[in-house]
Amino acid sequence: MQLGQPSRTALGAARARAFHQDADEPRIFEDPLAVLIAKAVDAVVDEGPADDGIPMEARLFLAIRHRYAEDELSAHVDTVRQVVVLGAGLDTFGPRNPFPGMSVFEVDHPDTQAWKRARIADAGIPVPASLRFVPVDFETDSLGEQLASAGFDDSAPTFFLWLGVVQYLTAAAVDTTLRFIAELPAPARLILDYSEPVSALPPQNKAIVEALADVMDRLGEPWLSLFTSDEIAGKLSGFGFDEIEDLDWGRMIARFAPLSGASDRVGGHVLSAAHPGHAAVPLGRK
Ligand SMILES: C[S@@+](CC[C@H](N)C(=O)[O-])C[C@H]1O[C@@H](n2cnc3c(N)ncnc32)[C@H](O)[C@@H]1O
Repeated sequence: MQLGQPSRTALGAARARAFHQDADEPRIFEDPLAVLIAKAVDAVVDEGPADDGIPMEARLFLAIRHRYAEDELSAHVDTVRQVVVLGAGLDTFGPRNPFPGMSVFEVDHPDTQAWKRARIADAGIPVPASLRFVPVDFETDSLGEQLASAGFDDSAPTFFLWLGVVQYLTAAAVDTTLRFIAELPAPARLILDYSEPVSALPPQNKAIVEALADVMDRLGEPWLSLFTSDEIAGKLSGFGFDEIEDLDWGRMIARFAPLSGASDRVGGHVLSAAHPGHAAVPLGRK
């Protein structure tokens, strides 16, 4: 990330989610606040129309990862007391949170988060009492200390969303974050997405993914941590996670958008994993 300014990729993701609300039929991810926050972004950042440069497959990838994440949360909501949105960007789950009594902690780089809070205010989006903002640089700050000072209860079962973030972090920051979740006393469930290294892709897909990586470099947010599915599964298992479900693009499309006509976009995955925690009686387990 470029220090002193909001994450450019967070802006792109927000605009893609907003454009999805109008452009894709059937809509996979319902997010009325995405439209409001994108309008507030467009009012201060002139980047042309939202459909400019956002291919259908990219919109669907984002829509599916958020739909999958929020479906998983709904499926486990009876045993979850807190949600932590790691690297929240302009994600609107916190203001939309439909679950009474559920605390939401939005964690993000301080530069992105301060900017987002200003856009929420511009858009007139109310901030519910259940939502707390937690500024954290995953590379240098202690996630645990910052969450604790915001009222996070490490004895409460927690659902972590970590979408569109892992690839922008160093290996050390990825491991530190996973270790924090794995060492919690209470059970946790984690949804993340990740990208495969270009070297692991079939030849016909390498060029498009390399072009995307170049765009990220130019935005100042290079991809630093990429994994094959075996590598991420091995890493998560090593930290004690289980119940790993990993959807590649083919499975994402088959489950959520079989009639979309989306072309092959190999490389992106969304994944769910659980950690039993260290309490005597694990909660929220299948
Ligand atoms: C592609 S955006 C994804 C945002 C959001 N999760 C979404 O799905 O729209 C990447 C996010 O990672 C955050 N990020 C990148 N590096 C970070 C760091 N070192 N510490 C904290 N957040 C970071 C950015 O601020 C940004 O919000």
